[in-house]
Amino acid sequence: MSRDEEKMRAAKRAVGFIEDGQIVGLGTGSTASHAITMIARRVQGGLWVRGVPTSNVTERLARDAGIELLSLNEVDHIDVTLDGADEIDPDFNMIKGGGGALAREKLVAVASKKRIIMVDSSKLMRKLGSHFPVPVEVLPFGSKVAARALESVGCSPKLREVNGSPFVTDNMNWILDCATGLMDDPAGLEMAIKQINGVVECGLFSKLADVLVVGGQDGATVIEAGSGNLDLFDWR
Ligand code: 5RP
Repeated sequence: MSRDEEKMRAAKRAVGFIEDGQIVGLGTGSTASHAITMIARRVQGGLWVRGVPTSNVTERLARDAGIELLSLNEVDHIDVTLDGADEIDPDFNMIKGGGGALAREKLVAVASKKRIIMVDSSKLMRKLGSHFPVPVEVLPFGSKVAARALESVGCSPKLREVNGSPFVTDNMNWILDCATGLMDDPAGLEMAIKQINGVVECGLFSKLADVLVVGGQDGATVIEAGSGNLDLFDWR
């Protein structure tokens, strides 16, 4: 089964959690895009929800699909958020921001009562840091100062580029993709990175997943944070 098929199965299962009248955080990335298409189908069938998008790309996709939208500043809470991840560990710590939307994704996650993370099986890691660098959004003005400070906390930062120019986030900032090696203390590293001057947000998300949905051969498996059952999966 392809990774995309697994993502679609995870998205289908996660979209089933959404209830009429809810305010729904809409994540960014290919898995979140599948979910948005499926939410739109439910909306066409009579479901009433309002979405809070985590990026300009998601905003366009959701609006074009006919989902009513609100900005984060227009709501006092979000009922449920559906988003993807680049890596997730058995404690539900994550690396996010492969699509560059980490700052808005984290704000929407923090404002959400229930965070549902949808992944294909390749995202499950015993320890974070083996495959994906940690994206760190920085102010362009101070990117070199921030890069040196990131090195001092054990990261190897590399400016994310597109066609030879810096990738620019929706917030008009740059991203330093930080190789870290295997992490023993993701929450500690997240705190250390967040204290660096010029850092806007860090793509380490600790304690920001409530439900994990993993697509696979038999549809999708759902695990709630703290419920055990982690041996259902093959963590890499
Ligand atoms: C975007 C993200 C995505 O959720 C993450 O990169 C996973 O993407 P995909 O669903 O395409 O594998 O954090 O900023």
